[in-house]
Amino acid sequence: MDKKLIIAIDGYSSCGKSTFAKAIARELNYIYIDSGAMYRAVTLFCLRKGLINKNGIDTEGIKKALNDINITFVYNNDKGDYETWLNSENVEDEIRGIEVSNFVSRISQIPDVRMRMVELQRQIGVLKGIVMDGRDIGTVVFPDADIKIFMTASVDVRAQRRFDELQAKGENVDYHEIRKNIIARDIADENREVSPLRRAPDAIVLDNTEMTVAEQMEWIRKIIKAKLHADRN
Ligand code: DC
Repeated sequence: MDKKLIIAIDGYSSCGKSTFAKAIARELNYIYIDSGAMYRAVTLFCLRKGLINKNGIDTEGIKKALNDINITFVYNNDKGDYETWLNSENVEDEIRGIEVSNFVSRISQIPDVRMRMVELQRQIGVLKGIVMDGRDIGTVVFPDADIKIFMTASVDVRAQRRFDELQAKGENVDYHEIRKNIIARDIADENREVSPLRRAPDAIVLDNTEMTVAEQMEWIRKIIKAKLHADRN
């Protein structure tokens, strides 16, 4: 039997990382972990508890609350997909809304939040046979990952994809607001002090601006095959 791999997929917001990562996990029968969903769930928790309010962000309060936050991924049989649960509640839809999106970059800059999330992510990684997507998976969470991919696509294509996704969910969205939000998140992700978004030196770049998911799968299959072949010999 082939060795179980850890596949790390990093890159910019709305590049289609999760669609791609999920498709790989399904094909290999691996576990898929959406690390961005974890930061989103923390942000939702903070919004609900008033730790993000008109006075700003209560960093001390958030640090203290971290032990009250439990995040899990629960398989939904009807959807055939994993969903994000915050404590004992399914928050999969709420964490994708614009309110959480507007604050998540700032919450994910808090070092204690990152430390706690990385700890949880490494615990899941012990299982092997996982595909995890995020911003720092290949650089910080799993620097020894078997395969590292760094995804990118043009801002316009990313904004359009996000717009279509939210509109399909029935949200009342404005394309220009989404585009602005994506640019702001790129800047925040690349410039934060803790674990900024960077391509790991050994990550392979995938620019999917003009690629379908099927084409991306064709591309990664070759990489996985080569990796498994190299490990066998
Ligand atoms: O992938 P996403 O858009 O759902 O991620 C939400 C936010 O979380 C994004 O602004 C950056 C942050 N994030 C992070 O800092 N580190 C990760 N590993 C994943 C996401």
